Amino acid sequence: MKSILDGRPELAAEIWKVAETAGYLWQKGWAERNGGNITINITEFVDGEMRAMAPISEVKPIGATLPHLKGCWFFCKGTNKRMRDLARRPMENGSIIRITEDCSGYEIIADQPVLPTSELPSHLSVHDHLIASGSDYKASLHTHPIELVALTHNKKFLEKDVATRMLWSMIPETKAFCPRGLGITPYTLPGSVKLAEATIEALSDYDVVMWEKHGVFAVDRDIMAAFDQVDVLNKSAQIYIAARNMGFEPDGMSDEQMAEMTEAFHLPK
Ligand code: 13P
Ligand code: ZN
Repeated sequence: MKSILDGRPELAAEIWKVAETAGYLWQKGWAERNGGNITINITEFVDGEMRAMAPISEVKPIGATLPHLKGCWFFCKGTNKRMRDLARRPMENGSIIRITEDCSGYEIIADQPVLPTSELPSHLSVHDHLIASGSDYKASLHTHPIELVALTHNKKFLEKDVATRMLWSMIPETKAFCPRGLGITPYTLPGSVKLAEATIEALSDYDVVMWEKHGVFAVDRDIMAAFDQVDVLNKSAQIYIAARNMGFEPDGMSDEQMAEMTEAFHLPK
């Protein structure tokens, strides 16, 4: 079957990075059934021929007007589609959309009329916010990492930066590779505009935001980098849990060790 990716190697490479990441999410056990979603801003790869393509869906509302998305195109996982299927057949389990002129809706362009993820309001609001703030981040990832979600079932870890400090202190690389830490948003209905608003607010201070008792939302330059941030945070959560399973509360790195690390890696304080 013909694909929009044919003859567009740069765009195809970006989509296959998403597929590779989707495979990792499944292997990690973070993507049960249709769990999780990915959106990437592909506007830089759009050519004149693509711009002239007729949509294959009617205009659908985003649920919000997002002025900074004028002229933008995205690849999105489809709603109810599985990460493990996206890994092998990205263009059957996701689709390319373009934002309408008035920035309040979108049309599906290719390859098939796969309806984008139910978390589209959060993904697109975040991309709007990223563009508005001059960020070069192009990827957003929502996933259900087991140990990080488990932490949010304890009130202590919902307090500002308590989980971040604990996770950073488990292994030095965590702060190095997730220097802005883990933001927390109180439980909110999945797919809601309220969840999108809470996510944007938290992203001013963090690259990875925990949706209480649900999953994380991460942003970065590309999808691999967004995945890496979640991966290092979840690794720290696993170390914490392993220590607790051995019957003790882990000491964590000392304040002096954290300060030395922060200095040596030129990390934010
Ligand atoms: P979708 O299948 O609509 O992407 O939803 C999965 C999910 O994790 C919702 O939070
Ligand atoms: Zn989810």
